[in-house]
Amino acid sequence: MSASPGGERLVDHDADSEDRAVEAALRPRQLREFIGQERVRQQLDLVLRAARERGATADHVLLSGAPGLGKTTLSMIIAAEMGAPIRISSGPAIQHAGDLASILSSLQEGEVLFLDEIHRMSRPAEEMLYMAMEDFRVDVIVGKGPGATAIPLELPPFTLVGATTRAGLLPPPLRDRFGFTAHMEFYAPAELERVVHRSAGLLDVEVDPAGAAEIAGRSRGTPRIANRLLRRVRDYAQIKTDGAIGRETASRALEVYEVDERGLDRLDRAVLQALLKLFGGGPVGLSTLAVAVGEERETVEEVAEPFLVREGLLARTPRGRVATPAAWAHLGLTPPASQPGQPGLFGG
Ligand SMILES: Nc1ncnc2c1ncn2[C@@H]1O[C@H](COP(=O)(O)OP(=O)(O)O)[C@@H](O)[C@H]1O
Ligand SMILES: [Mg+2]
Repeated sequence: MSASPGGERLVDHDADSEDRAVEAALRPRQLREFIGQERVRQQLDLVLRAARERGATADHVLLSGAPGLGKTTLSMIIAAEMGAPIRISSGPAIQHAGDLASILSSLQEGEVLFLDEIHRMSRPAEEMLYMAMEDFRVDVIVGKGPGATAIPLELPPFTLVGATTRAGLLPPPLRDRFGFTAHMEFYAPAELERVVHRSAGLLDVEVDPAGAAEIAGRSRGTPRIANRLLRRVRDYAQIKTDGAIGRETASRALEVYEVDERGLDRLDRAVLQALLKLFGGGPVGLSTLAVAVGEERETVEEVAEPFLVREGLLARTPRGRVATPAAWAHLGLTPPASQPGQPGLFGG
């Protein structure tokens, strides 16, 4: 992975160790504190309020969306709004059905069970979960081989909150057992500005509206990244300036950390630069492109490309990676006139 000054990519969507330490402090605790995601918030509010009014346990909820958009935060909010305790585990942590059985059998009535990365659970655990979700019952297998017997075990009603970055990977029988599915979208710049202001308040950092807008604009639609960039800008401001963070300070700070106006970092720009300067904008194969930037194929494909594709800077075509006109513009380069035998893919 390309190293930014912090040693880890500032614009990575996944949580690093510093994020995890501060995230707890920055998490909204109630639904009305949760910024953006209007539709999801409205729907969830109805689901939870109605359950509360009936004195019932809320239906199972599936949260899907890219890392850093607020899935873990929402799961905790669900528990808080229901006045229920929360148990946290994850798909990869549940290797055997027995691991799941022991979690399920120790749940209290009304408890929220949060399963992060639920798409990475093992098949036998998944099958046990179907039954638990639907009938609040599990079959505990005792013994091995032909002598094994299944002992049915009643569970108290609970609310499963599953989170996944890949809803498409969930087997339909599992997906169908959730009473409510919330798909979380990337945040609009104005929403991220509110996230920045809110976090600045909690971190006791002064940020003016232009400074918040500057940070928000480079945050890739992701609150986790907005919070991380804010902390780096705070460091810069603390050492180099005094007073509130304005546009100038924010943009200088983020230049130091090599995050550009659009949120691209060094790796993203290296990929685009290679594509444009070495391969005339493509098409070029992924492996060739990866060698050109000195990275693993997987890093280019999974770390850099999704954002470049989302931003309309790069396209994945059957013949290889292709730069869009916007990529040339972003790097301030002029695309070559299209050559014979290489028809313009974008009507150019
Ligand atoms: N809607 C939001 N409003 C305010 N802060 C948010 C919001 N969504 C996420 N955050 C912040 O972003 C960070 C990452 O959120 P998290 O719930 O851990 O994301 P996920 O579980 O989807 O990866 C947390 O610090 C959280 O406080
Ligand atoms: Mg999470």
